[in-house]
Amino acid sequence: MKVLVVGSGGREHALVWCIAKSNKVKKIYCAPGNGGTASLAENIPIEADDISSLADFAGKEKIDLTVVGPEAPLVAGIADEFLTRGLNVFGPSANAAMIEGSKAFAKEVMKSAGIPTAFFNLITNIDELQELVQRKNLQKAAVKADGLAAGKGVFICNSQQEIMAAGNKILQEGIFGGAGKRVVVEELLEGEEASILAFCDGSTVKLMVSSQDHKRALDNDKGPNTGGMGAYSPAPVIAKELEKRIERDVMLPAIKELKKRGAPYVGVLYAGLMVSNNQIKVLEFNARFGDPEAQAVLPRLKTDLVEIMLSCINGKLQKQKIEWSENAACCVVMASGGYPGNYEKGKEIFGLDKSAKLHDTIVFHAGTKKIGDKIFSNGGRVLGVTALGKTINESIEKAYKAVSKISFEKMHFRRDIGGRALEVKLQ
Ligand code: AMP
Ligand code: GLY
Repeated sequence: MKVLVVGSGGREHALVWCIAKSNKVKKIYCAPGNGGTASLAENIPIEADDISSLADFAGKEKIDLTVVGPEAPLVAGIADEFLTRGLNVFGPSANAAMIEGSKAFAKEVMKSAGIPTAFFNLITNIDELQELVQRKNLQKAAVKADGLAAGKGVFICNSQQEIMAAGNKILQEGIFGGAGKRVVVEELLEGEEASILAFCDGSTVKLMVSSQDHKRALDNDKGPNTGGMGAYSPAPVIAKELEKRIERDVMLPAIKELKKRGAPYVGVLYAGLMVSNNQIKVLEFNARFGDPEAQAVLPRLKTDLVEIMLSCINGKLQKQKIEWSENAACCVVMASGGYPGNYEKGKEIFGLDKSAKLHDTIVFHAGTKKIGDKIFSNGGRVLGVTALGKTINESIEKAYKAVSKISFEKMHFRRDIGGRALEVKLQ
């Protein structure tokens, strides 16, 4: 088979790495890819949101399967375009991807399907927000732009002033453009966050192993929100019994509801959860693998990923066996100094040869570029250094050992990735 992976981050390198292990696969392309995907795939200089050029390429090269990494092309209808052209694609249609593309839609789906989530109100102008805040005497809320905002659309507010300021930025100043035409105002939830991803074929779901992301830039969850500074799997806060409830009370109702609405969900459905006293509530749905979660979850997959994806596309997931390694995984993101704010690119990365010699360790590239034999930084999140171990502790130690071999000017990374897992376990 010829496979095309769409995207350029650590998630896409992890997908390419996993797909390269399949004995069904002869050739992999990655568009646009990065310095790491270049070693396993042929990078094609087409941007992930250039849907018609991607479909032209897939048609011309007779690609057997296209796997879409990021949300933007999914929400914009890449799967629909490929299917119209008779091309195999792994990822939901635009209507199904609305579960990520519109927070208001996701909340409506959850409400109709009885999925546990925070109480919410949908607001379309600042006067309505003022009225809501006064009527309910709201002191705390999560204020969220409805549409895609590259992970930056959520404000956690702890006073009326903060709620109104967030509403102003989104609705009046329009900092997210059209994505901020509507705002979801949600009850603030407390607890431990974790993610569960599931393969879906429209009717059936199969849960992957759990994981937890670290969204803040600095140790001890301080500093600004980022795309994710690291992840580990499994998340001990999600016990086996809880997984069953997540399947029954979250994933199955979600895909049933989408099917009922004429948007059967095929691809990976990601549920961001808040866990408190063994109760779960959904914070968000994403229409794809998480990044960096994919970099901690995919290395634990023992079954051929391409086989699973084809089962999803062909509606045969029910019969598909999926096996996971008992090993834990930890992924530490190495970022450019200044990220998630301004940062410099083009720094040479040293020590990748040394880290490559370590066992059970994989260095996934995100913002990197290969020039000749050298690798240079080319983005905010630069590398995702992942290691497997018999315990979370062992995977953390191995990942940081690999991190210690790698350097580039002004790099920064968190030193406490996986630490939450150890704390939770001790409780
Ligand atoms: P979302 O994109 O909706 O997952 O929100 C991004 C982050 O904001 C989440 O990972 C949480 O840390 C936080 N968040 C979102 N909604 C809530 C909520 N209702 N209560 C508490 N924290 C929230
Ligand atoms: N790591 C969070 C996300 O992929 O949305």
